[in-house]
Amino acid sequence: MLWKKKLWSTLVVCLGVSLWNIYKLVNTGPSTSSHHFEEQPMMEGKSCNCNRCTELSNLDWFCERFDTSVNCLLTLENSEIPSGVLQWWLKLQRSNDGSQLQEIIKDLFDILPSPATGVEDIVQCGTCAVVGNSGRLRGSKYGEKIDSHNFVLRMNTAQTAGFEEDVGARTTHHFMYPESAMNLGPDIHLVLVPFKPLDLKWLASAFSSGEIWRTYRRVKPFLKADKSKVLILNPVFLKYIQDKWTMHYGRYPSTGFITLIFAIHTCTQVSAFGFGADHNGNWHHYWEENRAAGAFRRTGVHDAIIELQLIERLAAAGKVSFYK
Ligand code: C5P
Repeated sequence: MLWKKKLWSTLVVCLGVSLWNIYKLVNTGPSTSSHHFEEQPMMEGKSCNCNRCTELSNLDWFCERFDTSVNCLLTLENSEIPSGVLQWWLKLQRSNDGSQLQEIIKDLFDILPSPATGVEDIVQCGTCAVVGNSGRLRGSKYGEKIDSHNFVLRMNTAQTAGFEEDVGARTTHHFMYPESAMNLGPDIHLVLVPFKPLDLKWLASAFSSGEIWRTYRRVKPFLKADKSKVLILNPVFLKYIQDKWTMHYGRYPSTGFITLIFAIHTCTQVSAFGFGADHNGNWHHYWEENRAAGAFRRTGVHDAIIELQLIERLAAAGKVSFYK
């Protein structure tokens, strides 16, 4: 009986999403056209708006997980974090105290423009390449393919200079947290993945006083990046990924997997590069000479195997093109 109820609610949700897509298609034309891509405004109060729950063949597995109502981005308007999310989020890196959070967010948006207020070109539907940092990219010659996407999403200390042939040269969005931060060129969106309140405080500081130079380790006190292009992931979105996608395997999802799910929510077509071990089973980065072969898996914070299985499954369901 329970499975019948579940099936019905899934059908109703996905039917609603499909009708919305048909409505959009009739009113704006196909979502893959570049015209539509430029004109797509952000929805009021919602930060991720590409519906992908449309193919009936994937109703059960994909639609049960994919939630179009979740806010990807943190804004002043949605900064009140539900207590269940807050409790989980504060434990990720052992921040016991969330009492200053609203003040921290307010201070941050005094320095940064809140994405919900007028910035319309930050998250749009288009083709996206999500480039993980795996050593399996070495020798792949995927550079041109990666650069041919509308958006190229990279993360953490990813570098392109000297590796263009394999990883491409363009970056439109760079996902990072304080301990993995790097300076960015003027046209690149910095996307903060906050794992603790201090990360939000650090971002404000890195664009102003530079007073925060240490979290659980030394971090960059100042950051060179275009502050009008900064995006901040919402802790609600991180918890959604942990609940619905990685299903609590791993303490929390990796930056790469978070970026991939973000792309599934915001892009019409997603290609994933640089995930998983190389052909020798090593989990190093493409710019390293394999000094720490198991580094990514060894931390025990993320479940790399589960994440990889999910990417394979997304690929099998036609939601991601997975380049190995
Ligand atoms: O190591 P780092 O977190 O900077 O790498 C970015 C992302 O690339 C990871 O979060 C992970 O999702 C992916 N990755 C991977 N296999 C590796 C290295 C990184 O799947 N060997």
